[in-house]
Amino acid sequence: MIIVIANSKGGVGKSTLAVHLAAWLHEQGHGVTLADCDTQHSSSQWIGEAAPGVTAVTLADPDEILDRLPALGQQCDFVVADGPGSNTETSRALLLRADLALVPCKASMLEVRALAQATNVLRQAQDIRGGQPNAKIILSMVGKTYRLTQDMKDAAAALELPMAHTALILRQIYADAPGQGSVVWQLGARGREAAVEVNSLFREILPDAFAGKPSRRVRRAIG
Ligand SMILES: Nc1ncnc2c1ncn2[C@@H]1O[C@H](COP(=O)(O)OP(=O)(O)O)[C@@H](O)[C@H]1O
Ligand SMILES: [Mg+2]
Repeated sequence: MIIVIANSKGGVGKSTLAVHLAAWLHEQGHGVTLADCDTQHSSSQWIGEAAPGVTAVTLADPDEILDRLPALGQQCDFVVADGPGSNTETSRALLLRADLALVPCKASMLEVRALAQATNVLRQAQDIRGGQPNAKIILSMVGKTYRLTQDMKDAAAALELPMAHTALILRQIYADAPGQGSVVWQLGARGREAAVEVNSLFREILPDAFAGKPSRRVRRAIG
């Protein structure tokens, strides 16, 4: 299965989601490749430290993505592709090859409005491919006391994209994790709430990938 983390805006939490998802899938016992398609190569470095068992590859341009992604998908259970901040052609190539697109979006009316633009390439791919890839919005960097306003629900509904129930809360631990070469469930008590959150998000969006019980490390973190 090829999962792409797609939102043509930068700074919305793509790499954070990609690295955590790849590490989580690996801990569920799956063979995982992280395809880093951002020129900064930050997620391939991060995954190398946090989960060395995940194979990291960098794909430099749209042609390489279109040519190599299917074979990479054959060689393991899950490819998690981290998309670029702005390059439309790279996003297009990823969306033409992906089975599932996860679209992190900051929870503000402005960001949700901007999603219409940011998901244009996704809609084109779905149109060409008869509805594929399936897509899901994931709210990220959400304030702890935040409530989704009706305005935002309407705006998201107008995009005809389902939204995951579990959102990623704005927490310092996510911002600290790459500097520690870790994912949040490796960071002890400080990472506990975030560990619970990512675990429920991934179980929600990929119920079949869940090993049936949290892995030992995740279990230790969530208590
Ligand atoms: N849930 C979160 N809470 C706090 N900080 C976050 C969260 N998710 C991401 N960040 C931080 O926000 C910045 C942008 O996130 P990143 O995953 O790099 O986004 P993108 O890949 O879309 O550019 C990074 O500094 C990251 O550590
Ligand atoms: Mg990134």
